[in-house]
Amino acid sequence: MFLKPRVPEGGAIEDTDKMSMEKYSEIMKKRLGREYIKFAGNVITKVDPPKNSKVLEIGPGPGWAGIELLKKRKDLFLDGLEASKDMVRVASRNAADENLSDQTNYFKGFGEDMNTLPDDEYDLVISRDSMHHWDDPEKVFQEIYRVIKKEGKLYIQDSRRDLNLGGKFIVNLFGPIMAGKMLKYWKSSIAASFTPDEIRLMLEKNDLNDWTVEAYLMDLSIKKQ
Ligand SMILES: C[S@@+](CC[C@H](N)C(=O)[O-])C[C@H]1O[C@@H](n2cnc3c(N)ncnc32)[C@H](O)[C@@H]1O
Repeated sequence: MFLKPRVPEGGAIEDTDKMSMEKYSEIMKKRLGREYIKFAGNVITKVDPPKNSKVLEIGPGPGWAGIELLKKRKDLFLDGLEASKDMVRVASRNAADENLSDQTNYFKGFGEDMNTLPDDEYDLVISRDSMHHWDDPEKVFQEIYRVIKKEGKLYIQDSRRDLNLGGKFIVNLFGPIMAGKMLKYWKSSIAASFTPDEIRLMLEKNDLNDWTVEAYLMDLSIKKQ
């Protein structure tokens, strides 16, 4: 299959003159509300975090994915490591509005350098739709390996660049209805994302042999159970 080279997307998503991250948060909740609930369900069914897990979310953006997880699992505590200070502000507000301030702590930082976080700290690391923004995913994987407990779990989900005909059909035909004005961002996320094989290679190079990649029609996941 002919595969276009990656077109990386810049790292942090921040306020612009055209859109505040409060507005972005509102749009994402409206458009992707069900996807956030699905993600939270997947975390629970696919990796089943132990009771009272300490969770690290990388690139939470407005926070909706982790918030849905905490709504389902009130025993969890979540740290949100986010490259954009504007997203930190918005995620903290959204968690407060859901009465989840006591269970959440959002702070600015990059997945590639988690130097403020100790070794063997987290029972679960999650990330949704952020990996295609990472400048150096291998470095992020090495940092996750350092901060996650030996028996810790991992669930990362992102889009995939190597869409088959069915996937391309969905984006081009239903994209305008599904994504509206956000369609151009959806398309650029796909162009910036990795293929399952590219990720498998990165995991192999870093001896992350118990992390597995699963590929679906529109996206992919990396899992450690
Ligand atoms: C497309 S948004 C997804 C947000 C959220 N996870 C969701 O599913 O709605 C990607 C997020 O990752 C953040 N980000 C980008 N690069 C990052 C990095 N290297 N480390 C941490 N966060 C990063 C961006 O600032 C942005 O908030």
